Amino acid sequence: MKNYNIAVLAGDFIGPEVIEASIELLDVVAKKHNIELAYNRLPFGGNALDSHGNPLPQETKDACLEADAVLMGCSGGPVGDHPWNKVARELRVESGILGIRKHLGVFANLRPVKVFDNLAHLSPLKTEIAKGTDLMIIRELTGGIYFGKPSLNSKDKGLSTMVYERYEVERIARVAFETAKTKGGKVTSVDKANVLDVGQFWQDVVTGVHKTEYSQTELEHLYVDNAAMQIASNPKQFDTIVTTNIFGDILSDLAAVIPGSLGVLPSASIGGDIGLFEAIHGSAPDIAGMGIANPVGTMLSAAMMLRHGLNENDAALTIEKAVQSALASNPTKDLGGNAGTAEFTKASIEAIS
Ligand code: NAD
Ligand code: IPM
Ligand code: MN
Repeated sequence: MKNYNIAVLAGDFIGPEVIEASIELLDVVAKKHNIELAYNRLPFGGNALDSHGNPLPQETKDACLEADAVLMGCSGGPVGDHPWNKVARELRVESGILGIRKHLGVFANLRPVKVFDNLAHLSPLKTEIAKGTDLMIIRELTGGIYFGKPSLNSKDKGLSTMVYERYEVERIARVAFETAKTKGGKVTSVDKANVLDVGQFWQDVVTGVHKTEYSQTELEHLYVDNAAMQIASNPKQFDTIVTTNIFGDILSDLAAVIPGSLGVLPSASIGGDIGLFEAIHGSAPDIAGMGIANPVGTMLSAAMMLRHGLNENDAALTIEKAVQSALASNPTKDLGGNAGTAEFTKASIEAIS
């Protein structure tokens, strides 16, 4: 029997709800596939800011490096006036999220957007537009404007700087071309080269990697404004999208509309020794404690953890099939169905046995 040590950063508001639902499912899947998962629940997020004075305590950083994979919920407070939004930038919960990504060196964030035929009716888009969507957004995760210096918030001036080094663009471009090779063989690189120097740099470096290493793969470039419109109106044209940290953040929330809810999209952050796996949504303070948080994004992130982090492909597939089947029989509330978190978790477990 294989044993794995999973560092768990549940986070805030709906974070613990979607994490515990996913662990319930993971335990059943592990048993079926004869693997053993040990969970190390660690302080992280706004609750850790309150209890430890830091959203990413040192003990959490250390324990993550010793784990086989890190499974993350979601963290942060409500938007606007909240004590967690009033602390120094380096103590903000969101700095803790950026901090753990940087600490693990996970520069590539894979955000798949797939619409299964039997679930296409859950999309608010016309069924024929959503049906068949199978795109992978590859978001650069440890560079760009999220990390650029100088950065300033003073009385009369706000400043953030977008910087990309050649090696950062080259390595994320390679992840995209390698991904496209396993899919439809087409990469769409999204930038704002018409306005930003850093955008033209991005486009030139991606073009260079294509020419010298991946000329057999198709490459197209789109400006981000047009890309947003194309994703919403004709998502099937896309195979693999590669883009910057901030554009990837925005475009993936937009792409969540295609399957029907922000609550269903998972992600895998890779490129370091240990992977970090988290849904793309936030802590949803507006629905916390109501029993209606959709756990699918975290469950599918757990599947990505099994596949990309632990090489347990069969177990990953079991989760994906269980979730798909439970969604088909009774969708969660955010998708227009009746299932709350607990009902959905139960249904997905029943779908396995
Ligand atoms: P959000 O993603 O938390 O919520 C946006 C909307 O989507 C809300 O209406 C919410 O109820 C809904 N939603 C999100 N996840 C859902 C789910 N699983 N099931 C059902 N509905 C769901 O975005 P926000 O309100 O902009 O951010 C709230 C906090 O989360 C902020 O502090 C933000 O910084 C943080 N955040 C954290 C992460 C993370 O931990 N990885 C990601 C994004 C945002
Ligand atoms: C995400 C989130 C984070 C990001 C924030 C909360 C730091 O929006 O994971 O999509 O922008 O990366
Ligand atoms: Mn986001």
